Amino acid sequence: MKRIQVGVLGATGTVGQGFVRLLADHPWFEVAAVAASERSAGKSFGEACRWRLSAPLPDRVGRLPILPLDPRAMAGIPLVFSALPADVACRVEPTFVVEGFVVSSNATSFRQQSDVPLVVPEVNPDHLRLIDLQRRTSGRRGFLVTNPNCTTTGIALVLKPLHDAFELNSVVAASMQAVSGAGYPGVASLDILDNVIPWIFGEEEKIETETRLLLGRVDERGKVKAELKVSAHANRVSVLDGHTVCLSLGFRHPCTPRDAIDVLGVFRGASADLDLPSAPERPVLVREEEDRPQPRLDRDAGRGMTVTVGRVRACSVLDLRLALVVHNTVRGAAGGSIENGELLVRGGWLP
Ligand SMILES: NC(=O)c1ccc[n+]([C@@H]2O[C@H](COP(=O)([O-])OP(=O)(O)OC[C@H]3O[C@@H](n4cnc5c(N)ncnc54)[C@H](OP(=O)(O)O)[C@@H]3O)[C@@H](O)[C@H]2O)c1
Repeated sequence: MKRIQVGVLGATGTVGQGFVRLLADHPWFEVAAVAASERSAGKSFGEACRWRLSAPLPDRVGRLPILPLDPRAMAGIPLVFSALPADVACRVEPTFVVEGFVVSSNATSFRQQSDVPLVVPEVNPDHLRLIDLQRRTSGRRGFLVTNPNCTTTGIALVLKPLHDAFELNSVVAASMQAVSGAGYPGVASLDILDNVIPWIFGEEEKIETETRLLLGRVDERGKVKAELKVSAHANRVSVLDGHTVCLSLGFRHPCTPRDAIDVLGVFRGASADLDLPSAPERPVLVREEEDRPQPRLDRDAGRGMTVTVGRVRACSVLDLRLALVVHNTVRGAAGGSIENGELLVRGGWLP
């Protein structure tokens, strides 16, 4: 198969570098263009980017010039992955859609728009049917697809099989989020070392809304949120990569810890038969050791695409408690967005 040429917007940032690394040996996609801010435009990617990953910067991409965030500079490329800050994405991504590009975005800007799919392939691939609505509304061939916020991605992957089996009615989520989630240079070291910051801008609202959208459904008018209450506490902690989330869950049907472990253990997701290259063998892995999951030990499970769950036990207030670890820049960002791109290819959505 001839590889599909793709572009990366915001390629020099934390998530952008994740795209470059994950796409370096991708069987379907090849990075043909990279774009970033005016500060970087005109330099080569290698010159402009402060490469922060332990894997080496791929030589070929290192030599690519940084392009301006202008769709005309990427003419002929069908698909772009966006790792732009939200305030830039809301301005730039629509200009690519207007010019016929397919945009797979990490940014929060359009996730809640009624005709823009918010998708995790294993959770709600059927929500891609909103593309038809988006195209009808805009009158354009190009369209935008989004993946959720990094914390919500991990939560939704774990809640999906439990919701299908036992019907959730309440979710309380307390996150301990890695510093890489704030981009580069992110949180000042003097703020975060030896510390926990009990607030992350906009994060609790995103977890509460996006979880209900992912577990909800779509109809001809747009998105319908799942009928459940979600309450989130978001904390920034002194961990490099990997968000930990403690969940307390209430269900409409009885669910024991053993029932939950059994359901999570066999979960393969709605996209399991599609053989998506980035999909892990197991989207969710249950560990029964009493002190797991831990970000340092578990974030790289399934090449960073598996969410690890542990401490599944009864709750004395709701029905069930558990902890999970999700790799925020892989499954929660670049990897999730690439898997959405693969889902679009399998669905025949790319021109
Ligand atoms: N980090 C995570 O774990 C994570 C997870 C999920 C979603 N996200 C989302 O992904 C997006 C990127 O996050 P990040 O953590 O990678 O951020 P980041 O490290 O700050 O990188 C931002 C990127 O956008 C470019 N950029 C910044 N300001 C710009 C401007 N005014 N005009 C044009 N380009 C500009 C930067 O280019 P220069 O290098 O040229 O400045 C850089 O390539 C955000 O929307 C974020 O919310 C992040």
